[in-house]
Amino acid sequence: MSEVIIVPSAREAGILVADLIVGLVRRRADAVLGLATGSTPLPVYEALVPHAALLRDVRGFALDEYVGLEAGHPESYRSVIDREVVAPLGLDPARIRVPGDDGGPLETAGERYEADLEAAGGVDLQLLGIGATGHIGFNEPGSSFASLTRVKTLTERTRRDNARFFASPDDVPLHCITQGLGTILRARHLVLLAFGAGKAEAVAAAVEGPLTASHPGSAIQLHPRATVVVDEEAATAL
Ligand code: GLP
Repeated sequence: MSEVIIVPSAREAGILVADLIVGLVRRRADAVLGLATGSTPLPVYEALVPHAALLRDVRGFALDEYVGLEAGHPESYRSVIDREVVAPLGLDPARIRVPGDDGGPLETAGERYEADLEAAGGVDLQLLGIGATGHIGFNEPGSSFASLTRVKTLTERTRRDNARFFASPDDVPLHCITQGLGTILRARHLVLLAFGAGKAEAVAAAVEGPLTASHPGSAIQLHPRATVVVDEEAATAL
């Protein structure tokens, strides 16, 4: 693990991380960005808008996706990425890959995703949020640190947390497809963001807790270049 940066607000975190991305893209115009969904990375995407012209040639790989939503469902992560990242930054949607979005059979979607990721040369900078259960991507407690992209069952807690995005809690899918912890650890730079008191315990366990599959976020301690950017509330248990 490399560093923890405490910033006054999510907005400032967004600007700081957008600057990291801009620096990367100035060095390598076709950099591969690891995209996260959820509310946490939104300030980063907003702060990238003034730099959109620079980002034309970047490629993107999303961390995870629900299984079972109809194509074009507004809460599918493909739709969220198209809405929150592709459209405001004027990116070519074909340069962004989301697990399971290639139309092939679900059973082998993970292998195809890993192959595409490898063919792109791997992720240069991976954005990460963290769930209250300590999940990163959709790697819930119990996920192997060596796991690769695969279909998983969502925990009840995560389904409940994500119900706010759906008309009814029953509409939240039961399954997802997610990059594994092993996949995430292959990225060259991890940037984990967390805001608000509700994330304080998960952040402390990820940064300072024991390395354990019971807290998937702790896997970031294995990475030689992990940057954790939190606001003061999310830093209170550190
Ligand atoms: C979701 C996503 C994760 C995200 C996390 C936190 O379920 N699959 O990638 O990091 O939960 O969400 P939020 O950023 O909205 O708190």
